[in-house]
Amino acid sequence: MKNLTLFFVLLSLSLNIQAKYAHLSSPNGDIKVIISDEHSQPSYQIAFNQQAIIAPSQLGMEFKDAAGFNQGFTIENVSRNSVDSSWQLPWGERQKVADKHNEIAVTFTAKRDNTNRYTVRFRAFDDGVGFRYEVPKQQGLLNRVEITNELTQFSLADAEHVTAWWIPARGWNRYEYTYNTTSLAEVDRVHTPFTFKLKSGVHLSIHEAALVDYAAMTLDQRRPGLFKADLTPWSDGILVKTQTDFKTPWRTIQISKDAVGLLNSTLILNLNEPNKLGDVSWVEPGKYVGIWWGMHVGENTWASGSKHGATTSETKRYMDFAAKHGFQGVLVEGWNIGWDGEWFNNGDLFDFDDSFSDFDIAAVTEYGKKKGVDLIGHHETSGNVTNYRLQMSDAYALYQKHGINQIKTGYVADGGNIKRIDEAGIIRKEWHDGQFMVAEYLHSVTEAAKHKISINTHEPIKATGLRRTYPNWIAREGARGQEFNAWGSPPNPPEHTAILPYTRLLAGPMDFTPGIFDMGFNGLGENTNRPQTTLAKQLALYVVLYSPIQMAADLPRNYEAKLDAFKFITDVPTDWQESKAIAGEVGDYVVFARQERDGNDWYLGALTDEASRTIQVTLDFLTLGKKYQAQIYRDGDKAEWKNNPYEMIIEKKIVTAEDTLSFKLATSGGVAIRFKALD
Ligand code: NOJ
Ligand code: CA
Repeated sequence: MKNLTLFFVLLSLSLNIQAKYAHLSSPNGDIKVIISDEHSQPSYQIAFNQQAIIAPSQLGMEFKDAAGFNQGFTIENVSRNSVDSSWQLPWGERQKVADKHNEIAVTFTAKRDNTNRYTVRFRAFDDGVGFRYEVPKQQGLLNRVEITNELTQFSLADAEHVTAWWIPARGWNRYEYTYNTTSLAEVDRVHTPFTFKLKSGVHLSIHEAALVDYAAMTLDQRRPGLFKADLTPWSDGILVKTQTDFKTPWRTIQISKDAVGLLNSTLILNLNEPNKLGDVSWVEPGKYVGIWWGMHVGENTWASGSKHGATTSETKRYMDFAAKHGFQGVLVEGWNIGWDGEWFNNGDLFDFDDSFSDFDIAAVTEYGKKKGVDLIGHHETSGNVTNYRLQMSDAYALYQKHGINQIKTGYVADGGNIKRIDEAGIIRKEWHDGQFMVAEYLHSVTEAAKHKISINTHEPIKATGLRRTYPNWIAREGARGQEFNAWGSPPNPPEHTAILPYTRLLAGPMDFTPGIFDMGFNGLGENTNRPQTTLAKQLALYVVLYSPIQMAADLPRNYEAKLDAFKFITDVPTDWQESKAIAGEVGDYVVFARQERDGNDWYLGALTDEASRTIQVTLDFLTLGKKYQAQIYRDGDKAEWKNNPYEMIIEKKIVTAEDTLSFKLATSGGVAIRFKALD
């Protein structure tokens, strides 16, 4: 027995002596990745500033009808590349994105005839690491491939004293959960971006980039600190159905010494393919109002009847309001046939080119043209995607005919309850984030592009940076938005919008629909459905929560009643030259400064959680030597979110880049500033 143990020790030593290691560093050298084939088991590990952050973590995948990429693989070949370039976003939180990274492609092979070869391509940027699998055609994987397990692990090197911010995966409410702030031990199966802070203060966020023709990755904590890729399956249990050659989405780990660094990361966009649509000048960022909040607070209905919101006359009234205050669009929900029945979870009812009799699409779009306002289309599918798919092309053509260039789509249905009818005519129930829906959402975007229409998806697949490749995928929801404040149980807590930037928004723009001015529709206090914020914080959301399309979500009369505060919403742009996160801690507060696209004005938004706090903002983002008029919207001295949310001070000051401003944010308060450049 003793000899046998010795034999195995020697054997493993000799194996390890033969093990190969491939090294990769970020351009600034702070991040180091080691890929190895120790014990013939491909793995990777990551260090940041000499600290191990990801311990050796397994790579590989398994298939239904072929031997898996698991044991017995060794490094056969390593190739390297480096990139130092930049590219432009047609719209975005910045115009120019620097892409500086080092790359290593490691090919693993096994000594057998079948299923014996795959490559893992790693890219190390200064803000994190991405890697993906590339699987060529080979014996055993000649055509159709069914993936039954992705073995990718993210094993934290030190799981002690970690704080994690997460929402559960595979739940009925898709991505629409309040965030949990817990130790690692309490983390369940989670969606990504999954953000956490290590004992050292280093912040990490695990996500994915370029999710195309593959299942979304959720993370399952298998052992303390060890997370495994857990792909959302098809209704028949298979994870991914594809064919060789194929490549997976990038698995991403954003890494920063502090929370703010995550907010300034461009890793996800950099790992996506360039624009595939060519000229996208028809994709228009902008602001909109809509026949929407009235339904959520019960003043109107989507259904026909005396409270029907989407009427011709109401649409014209909104268009008048939009034109008067400089909004580009008016969203109208509930215009088409289908809303009269049990529409939630029952998309069979929807007809996408037939309107209710009190809504005249030609009349309202003609009216809008005269006023310089676009109608924004709305397609609620209630998760019946086959019904939508069959009508999609005609529905987009109808909208194009009427000059509509943006559609909000909706996939309201419980998680796991997306309805599709398969080739055999059988009804199948799928997840919103399984491979079937990943393809379905993208199909709607590419189909819409043919009609020069942009898509704003609600109940979407999570963002993974595909806006770079398909710039008409202009925004999406995919987290608890403002609507939860109307009817959610509970409404969004004060910390919600102090967590979103560090989690959901790392993935891409969110159509949160900010700007509720009347918080007393159910009475103020803390036990009602209402935005749990001050008025100044509602304004700050326009700068903090990036989206190229921003709604002024409240009813026109609530804006008419507070025109001085409304001025900030009419001024604030939605397209930026540059964005800089200045300060913040996950779940506590956040401060963002953004410069308008093709302009000199800067805007600042800061918000806090339930704690009141004072923030100092150094204005060194402004151009040195230039003077600006700071138009400040800040919480009044006695403002607090529960019973005094409206007290707000609007004041003007001349400032320069050498000034520092100090603000006291109320409980769940904020500050919004326009820095108007003076000549
Ligand atoms: C849920 C969406 O998030 C909301 O914005 C929309 O009004 C309803 N579905 C109806 O489509
Ligand atoms: Ca907090």
